[in-house]
Amino acid sequence: MTAGAGVKLLTEDGRRLDGRALNELRRCRIEAGVLKNADGSAYIELGRNKIIVAVYGPREVHPRHEALPDRMLLRCRYSMLPFSVAEERKSPAPTRREVEISKVIREALEPAIFLEEFPRTSVDVYIEVIEADGSTRVASITAAAVALADAGIPMRDLVAGVSIGKIEGKLAVDLSGIEDQHGEGDMPIAMMPRLGEVTLMQADGRFTREEVAQALRMAREAILKLYEEQKRALKERYSKVLAAELGEEQ
Ligand code: CDP
Repeated sequence: MTAGAGVKLLTEDGRRLDGRALNELRRCRIEAGVLKNADGSAYIELGRNKIIVAVYGPREVHPRHEALPDRMLLRCRYSMLPFSVAEERKSPAPTRREVEISKVIREALEPAIFLEEFPRTSVDVYIEVIEADGSTRVASITAAAVALADAGIPMRDLVAGVSIGKIEGKLAVDLSGIEDQHGEGDMPIAMMPRLGEVTLMQADGRFTREEVAQALRMAREAILKLYEEQKRALKERYSKVLAAELGEEQ
């Protein structure tokens, strides 16, 4: 959703409307293992975004004819709750945007999973956006990777994502809703942080070759910070599980 100029997105001293520097992420907090019914789960807050992810599997594929003989079937469903956006009520039916985002999220996660080790099974990733404020697809990827790890699914690496946008001609990390709406461009990027491999790169708007290179550098720096938060959330989850088990033994 890229609109033209008109709204001032940078203050006199070069800060953004929410006070951030151009290379600054919004406050990010991740929690793993938030749902009892799912095999794995995670909750992320990135600025005003609130997103919850539930993972089921690996399990038998339904309908059975969708099973793949040589690998796991990964299914992702990104969905926005009707009250998640400013407009009074988003239709609960999947929009074209949600269908597209579900697909790109799946493609961003697949390279990290050892799909071939689980033939004829499926893993379902359900993503519910509770409140949206820009960059929800990349925040969903960051949380989904934690939920997959929480489900115990063997992975090469986690995946984390950030959007790099262009506001008033300058590249900026982690676009908020208003920056996405009134900025000149938006480039969602996801990477396997430890391996440094890009698994998602989209672009809406015009970027020069130099800007793309700079955007990748800025994204890598931000993604490494998100990776620290992902690991912290998983460690906290494991220490809680361990403490509960030790408590039972006593
Ligand atoms: O969320 P993301 O940046 O990945 O995707 P987008 O299609 O570029 O949407 C940007 C933002 O627009 C979302 O994060 C929401 O804050 C907002 N939006 C909205 O207000 N109403 C919609 N139906 C869809 C998006």
